[in-house]
Amino acid sequence: MSARIESCPHCARGYCALMRIHVDADKCQGHNRCYALAPELFDVDDYGNAVVVGDGSVAPELEEKARLAVANCPEFAITISE
Ligand code: F3S
Repeated sequence: MSARIESCPHCARGYCALMRIHVDADKCQGHNRCYALAPELFDVDDYGNAVVVGDGSVAPELEEKARLAVANCPEFAITISE
């Protein structure tokens, strides 16, 4: 499902068709597999927990890496919305 937002910096169509990733801060335990697999999409905060880069939008060429990060998070802390 596309996220409906006022102005997407990527699409400029009134809706965003890009995949988005989210990290649940309550679930993340800082395993950092996501960062190791996809540093373009994830960063690490001062506590060693994951945060998404930017607004979490995933460029089409990085979608596979996003799915890989989801599959490799042992805490199931990463979700994708499309
Ligand atoms: Fe956290 Fe999972 Fe990444 S536990 S640091 S979101 S691999």
